Amino acid sequence: MEAQSREAWGTKLGFILAAVGSAVGLGNMWRFPYAVSDKGGAAFVILYIVMVIVVGVPIMLSEFAVGRRARLSPIGALRETGGPRWMTLGYLYVLTGVVILAYYSVIAGWAMRYTLEALLSGFSTEPGQYFERSSTGVGAALYHIVFMGITISIVVGGVKAGIERVSLVLMPVLFLLVVGLAIYAATLGGAGAGYSFYLRPRLGHFFSASTLAAAASQAFFSLSLGMGAMLTYASYLKRDENLPGSAAAISFSDFGVAFVGGLVVFPVIFAFGLQGEIGASPLGALFISVPRAFVEMGAAGRVVGLMFFTALLVGALTSAISLLEVVTSSLIDHWKLDRTRAALGAGLVILFVGLPCAYDLNVLGLFDAVAGEFFLGVGAFFLALLVGWRAPEVADEVRRGFSREALIRGWLWVVRVVVPIILAVVIYDRGKNVLQTIQSLIAGP
Ligand code: PFF
Repeated sequence: MEAQSREAWGTKLGFILAAVGSAVGLGNMWRFPYAVSDKGGAAFVILYIVMVIVVGVPIMLSEFAVGRRARLSPIGALRETGGPRWMTLGYLYVLTGVVILAYYSVIAGWAMRYTLEALLSGFSTEPGQYFERSSTGVGAALYHIVFMGITISIVVGGVKAGIERVSLVLMPVLFLLVVGLAIYAATLGGAGAGYSFYLRPRLGHFFSASTLAAAASQAFFSLSLGMGAMLTYASYLKRDENLPGSAAAISFSDFGVAFVGGLVVFPVIFAFGLQGEIGASPLGALFISVPRAFVEMGAAGRVVGLMFFTALLVGALTSAISLLEVVTSSLIDHWKLDRTRAALGAGLVILFVGLPCAYDLNVLGLFDAVAGEFFLGVGAFFLALLVGWRAPEVADEVRRGFSREALIRGWLWVVRVVVPIILAVVIYDRGKNVLQTIQSLIAGP
């Protein structure tokens, strides 16, 4: 009864663009450039590509297969796949969605404020002070509330009339904006230094475990893996799509936008000699150095800045929708609420959980370390164990619409052996990072 009345995507393109919309977001234009500059430029980019292929695509395919096979949101899907004990993993997914969206929405609120700023008055000539003033406090809380309101209203609209419709319109806009910005950035004098930092590998950074963990966890965050977002989206699929093809296309698009995002951010920052600033404030890099460059550009900077922050906002919105949908669909399937109540209830809880992040950046950083990095690693690790060892029959779901048996066997082997080993490193490293973050919070400034 439940399965028959389940909502579904209207078109294959709708599903793909919604999933790309989930993947492309703050992770691409905020976290990726920061991770690249923090971890040694081009070497990190290469390692990141390897992680997307070796762990990202296989886990995405696992989520797709589990979701479409069960046609249920995470808690029910994991119970169907592995038995009642695996529901715990589903609860972790819902919790992760709540915590990530709580701080994600605060950052998206900043992007909304900067977009309006570009439109109405132009950027502040003191971007550092402006960020300090505007990133926390009542203003930040209000933008967070407005952003959550918009996200809730789209999720209330449902899978086809809400999420799919918005993605079909917004994703092409986002692609055009990012490509247009990259072309503009190429015309800036001094862009070359940015490209060289971004694209010329300096070996030596390559082999540390923490760089590997950072690349893998960036891949999970960016591809929306490890908390059931892709699982939930696949649960609305009809039976015969080619799942590996979709996983590859979505991962490639997500990488494409992150890569082109780097072709915007680095030339812009280097052209104005602002590279020293990136490392100073990881959370604020994008909201301080990049606007400073826009101010230096003069009149053009306002238009370019408007395009930049609009792209960021659009990306954040389609990702936030998927985060809220994980929680909403769980309330619908598992707790039998109707969609409007589920989306509203979940959204309001998340709104309140996010308020402390709008008042204290340390809380925001802690939420990111715990949920955005550690929980996603744990979530993906157990999913790999489930699909690789406990329920390898999930592979039959991949066989619908895809017949290259050797690839399916290769995928299962990677999920069984390679992914858990890499994820064990990620969990250890990111777990350590959570403890350090908590210690420094307790110790105070
Ligand atoms: N992938 C999004 C980004 O790169 O900004 C963030 C995200 C969305 C993470 C959905 C996890 C998720 F389930």
